[in-house]
Amino acid sequence: MRAPVFGLIDHIGVAVFDLDAALELYEGSFGMPVAHRETVTEQGVEAVLLDVGATHVELLRPLAGETAVGRFLAKRGPGLHHVAYRVDDIAATLAELREGGIDLIDAEPRTGIRRSRVAFLHPRSTGGVLTEIVEPDRGVH
Ligand code: CO
Repeated sequence: MRAPVFGLIDHIGVAVFDLDAALELYEGSFGMPVAHRETVTEQGVEAVLLDVGATHVELLRPLAGETAVGRFLAKRGPGLHHVAYRVDDIAATLAELREGGIDLIDAEPRTGIRRSRVAFLHPRSTGGVLTEIVEPDRGVH
């Protein structure tokens, strides 16, 4: 059996119109502690990470309509946006996926939340599931 490419789900991304309303649900009703809140200009979002066991829920509010999450919300409304897997070496993982015939949205990693390096795989290669891979900044878990 081959070695797994992904070892852990880093987070589930959820697109929202209203972060405070979403926090009432995830923090208030579900009791998930807020771990981090950040505006990630490169991705056009304000994001909140909530702890759930060893992984996270990532709430995403677009900074403008003409952003990836803004267009998603306009088309589909709020809801599940992507699944993110954690990897140790994002460059090596991207190369392995590309060689395996997966279409990449990001040929090169870009900056994600908490100074992580992230890249998205195209949903046409992943059964319609927008898939992100994340290499955390060293020292952040
Ligand atoms: Co994400």
